[in-house]
Amino acid sequence: MKKILITGGAGFIGSHVVRLFVNQYPDYHVFNLDALTYAGNLENLKDVESKSNYTFVKGDITDEAFVNQLFATHTFDGVIHLAAESHVDRSILDPLAFVKTNVIGTVTLLNAAKNTWKGAMEGKRFYHVSTDEVYGSLGDSGLFTETTPYDPHSPYSASKAASDHFVRAYHDTYQLPVVLSNCSNNYGSHHFPEKLIPLAIHNMKNNKPVPVYGTGENVRDWLFVEDHARAIAVIFHQGKNGDTYNIGGFNEWKNIDLIHTLCKIMDRKLNRAEGETAKLITFVKDRAGHDLRYAIDATKLNKELGWSPSLQFEEGLEKTVDWYLANETWLANVTSGNYQQYYQVQYTQR
Ligand code: NAD
Ligand code: TYD
Repeated sequence: MKKILITGGAGFIGSHVVRLFVNQYPDYHVFNLDALTYAGNLENLKDVESKSNYTFVKGDITDEAFVNQLFATHTFDGVIHLAAESHVDRSILDPLAFVKTNVIGTVTLLNAAKNTWKGAMEGKRFYHVSTDEVYGSLGDSGLFTETTPYDPHSPYSASKAASDHFVRAYHDTYQLPVVLSNCSNNYGSHHFPEKLIPLAIHNMKNNKPVPVYGTGENVRDWLFVEDHARAIAVIFHQGKNGDTYNIGGFNEWKNIDLIHTLCKIMDRKLNRAEGETAKLITFVKDRAGHDLRYAIDATKLNKELGWSPSLQFEEGLEKTVDWYLANETWLANVTSGNYQQYYQVQYTQR
């Protein structure tokens, strides 16, 4: 049985990746290493926690002794690394937390893999999951390809860019078998309500102001999270050693248009009069260093490995709204405690 280490598996994307691997690859034993920060939640994995090919390990990827011991005990055939601090606004409030987890944590894992696999790299794989934000910001036209130069602007994207560079450096210097992917904005179930879509759904539902930064003209490419998890499985198994693959939805939306689309869905789902939810839209002070536009060219992944997104955006948004409306306890749990404090700091002075 192959042993696969997935880091950050209790988070948004990680939980979908863990679910896919545990259910679709019964001959893998999946170890989920997660520190359970504010963003990690074992509730996300209730449906897989009792499966015999799944083990949860609580731990911090920056804890060198702990990580080395874990690798020494299990060796692991593959690593899929998702653990990270992932929210741009939090990175503006506390950049060092991002350097610690995203840079030092990644290098700690790379070292453990390098030392454990030394002399026996054949068949091993270290998969680093990254973001399109490392490429910086586009104007009105153009797409990020795998050869677009890095130009990060936020502490979050700078820390992810640094971690990507380390992964490639370990491949070039120590021949560590690595593969990377850079994906656009994900949406779907189990998404922590600090990010635009789940925050907007939560506020719309509770008749609270829906904060739109600046004029809402910023553009993001959105991909359904289960399509991302599927792409990760494809790249993990078929991606070329040392290569990078861009993952995206071919699905660009201005924030303000996306929010209006969500408002219409919420009017319908909550039996409100047409236009009722849109009254909650509130334009607030823009994010510092706010990237104007992200857009991904995922042609390489499509042509070389045959992956393409499965869902239309409106269909994915409906599914997402349905999940949040049906999972009130999940939302109530994650928005109690520290969330209130974060919300206060992030939004009251805007
Ligand atoms: P998330 O914030 O929802 O989850 C991160 C997980 O990592 C949490 O479970 C958290 O507990 C864990 N974690 C954080 N610090 C840790 C540490 N020091 N040790 C161990 N575990 C720790 O993030 P997400 O949105 O699921 O993103 C997952 C990965 O995908 C990240 O690497 C992110 O950069 C990347 N990514 C995200 C998006 C997106 O739209 N969310 C898009 C592209 C790439
Ligand atoms: P976010 O979900 O934080 O993802 P990212 O910054 O990684 O793209 O934000 C998506 C877009 O929505 C981004 O342009 C910032 C904007 N935004 C708002 O307008 N209001 C909000 O409350 C949040 C969280 C984001």
